[in-house]
Amino acid sequence: MKVADRHYHTIWLNNDRRSVDIIDQRWLPHEFKVVTLKTVDDIAIAIRDMWVRGAPLIGVTAAYGVAIAMADDPSDAALHDVWDKLHETRPTAINLRWALDTMRQYLLPLPQKDRMAAAYRRAADIAEEDVQLNRQIGLHGLEIIRDIAARKKPGEPVNILTHCNAGWLATVDYGTATAPIYVAAEEGINVHVYVDETRPRNQGAQLTAWELNGHGVPHTLIVDNAGGHLMQHGQVDMVIVGTDRTTANGDVCNKIGTYLKALAAKDNNVPFYVALPSPTIDWTVHDGISEIPIEERAGAEVSHVQGLAADGKIASVQISPTGSPTANPAFDVTPARLITGLITERGVAQASAEGLSALFPQSRR
Ligand code: MRU
Repeated sequence: MKVADRHYHTIWLNNDRRSVDIIDQRWLPHEFKVVTLKTVDDIAIAIRDMWVRGAPLIGVTAAYGVAIAMADDPSDAALHDVWDKLHETRPTAINLRWALDTMRQYLLPLPQKDRMAAAYRRAADIAEEDVQLNRQIGLHGLEIIRDIAARKKPGEPVNILTHCNAGWLATVDYGTATAPIYVAAEEGINVHVYVDETRPRNQGAQLTAWELNGHGVPHTLIVDNAGGHLMQHGQVDMVIVGTDRTTANGDVCNKIGTYLKALAAKDNNVPFYVALPSPTIDWTVHDGISEIPIEERAGAEVSHVQGLAADGKIASVQISPTGSPTANPAFDVTPARLITGLITERGVAQASAEGLSALFPQSRR
């Protein structure tokens, strides 16, 4: 998407054909920094410490990590090592394992001399596929937004609530939850987005609001607890969120707090949609609540907030008493029964085993 008149992807191969550049998302919205990742260690740090984040982008970054590893040493042992090293960086988003498996399965049968070039080609394909999948999600989601817009009075916007950042920054381009919003806005539909701030990392406040601002999409930043109130007062027409892992039966794991939004949506008859590309479906998992590993992140994310201080520098400020214990589960699971539909690249599926396998019959296990 455009930043200051230049079209950016979130990750790209450099002219040296070895290293990749990424947007270091830790500093947004205050600073737009591009950094170069040259080694497998750089890639692992960038994923673990959330320089890049969002399930699809984590997967693509890992794919380039495998390519960088193959440039150093194209042996089978190196391929298994990079798989292990990158797989442990973040536990919840399944796109990471999907990308690592895809790369390893593709490279293992090849002669070692061909692996480096093949790895960079395959990583680039995965990145390009992500862009195409998100475009398709955008077109399918557009139909839903169009239907709601058709029932609105002239001048009234379609109010969409989203949680976390499932925007272009979380993918290679367009985003998943934001793709329908961007396509609808491009088409001239009057959309307005309620952006949950998304404590503790504030991906809504820092990333989604920055994206929407940059693209001129009307939006309002709200605290995480405001959504239920807005829904009770008829101020939300639909919810669209992304997902880090969706099970074969349609349970959705996403950023902590998503489940509460889904409960509030159900209680208020607000349609609750999840946008996802098929690499986010974990066909081996059937019960999201008991089977998906939930990342537990540092307590400092809860006890402190990061922002721009009065001196114009980015600072971290403590908000709780020193010594108060913290808990920081980063994701939760929304059961399929609370979900109106799953917006995929192949269309909108019912959140159920039948709904998903009707769209992806070859993937059912
Ligand atoms: O911890 P994060 O920022 O990586 O979590 C991101 C999310 O939860 C997104 O909603 C999800 O990855 C979908 S991104 C298209």
